[in-house]
Amino acid sequence: MPTAFTGIFKRGFGTFPLRGEELKSAVRTAAEIGYRAFDTAQWYGNEADLGGVLPELGIDRASLQITTKVHPHNMSVDKFMPSVEQSLRDLKTERIDVLLLHWPPNDNPVEPSLTLLQEAYDKGYAKHIGVSNYTTTMMRAAVRCLDTKLAINQVEFHPLLNQDKVLATAAEVGISLGSYCSIARGEIFKYPVLGEIGESHGKSTAQVALRWIVQKGVALNTMSTKRANMRSNFDVMDFVLSLSDMQKIDALTTAGYRISNAATVPFAPTWD
Ligand SMILES: NC(=O)c1ccc[n+]([C@@H]2O[C@H](COP(=O)([O-])OP(=O)(O)OC[C@H]3O[C@@H](n4cnc5c(N)ncnc54)[C@H](OP(=O)(O)O)[C@@H]3O)[C@@H](O)[C@H]2O)c1
Repeated sequence: MPTAFTGIFKRGFGTFPLRGEELKSAVRTAAEIGYRAFDTAQWYGNEADLGGVLPELGIDRASLQITTKVHPHNMSVDKFMPSVEQSLRDLKTERIDVLLLHWPPNDNPVEPSLTLLQEAYDKGYAKHIGVSNYTTTMMRAAVRCLDTKLAINQVEFHPLLNQDKVLATAAEVGISLGSYCSIARGEIFKYPVLGEIGESHGKSTAQVALRWIVQKGVALNTMSTKRANMRSNFDVMDFVLSLSDMQKIDALTTAGYRISNAATVPFAPTWD
């Protein structure tokens, strides 16, 4: 189901680091469970695998939402459009539903790559455009320089990281947020309070973390190779965390656990 503001689906299935048969099998299972939004990137090297399996699912193309992201190395004038055209061919689609810039150019100006993204939109290559890993300063710069509204900023978002500033600025400038590393790649399981809250709702630790993200108004991206985990990550719309639950989880954000940083990604900017 799309979010109220931007048309971005609320639950997406991530595909990193899956490739080949492992990706295809995971996507088939995810689609059976009900996922209709699939997240890939030029960087993941799996767009052709995703493009190969989607037509086999027997799902009307209009019901699917494919997100892909332009590789940071393709953000020059000569490489940008050919890379997007290759993504279209690999994904076997005439239009990408959500086309993102994967990373900003560290702390350098964002306008040149945003101009190329706008051109791709103007050519009809994307239904929605957005960014990923943008800071508050970058989001403000983006709305100043673009003719088209950015649908989404996909950022690391989970209970062990305080993203209040990014969330507040996104709301202020009219960009929705999407999550990645939503269960902090398993780190959340070290925090028993999530399980305790889950017990009172008949839900798991992961479901509590994901529901906290949903109640922050952020669209989810999760990835799993296991049917049970995929199912569990999808079933987060049928319960509500109380204010007290939310506050207990908010308190975990002081952990300051960040997976994507300058040590792990060479394009990372200085975070808010
Ligand atoms: N824009 C960006 O820069 C960026 C960066 C990173 C990721 N992403 C996107 O976001 C997606 C999700 O992020 P992520 O995969 O890095 O991190 P994640 O969702 O926090 O963690 C995925 C890991 O958690 C396990 N898992 C998933 N659900 C579980 C559950 N309910 N219980 C226990 N374990 C569970 C999975 O293992 P099992 O297979 O064993 O379930 C997998 O190893 C990616 O696939 C990618 O599409 C985007």
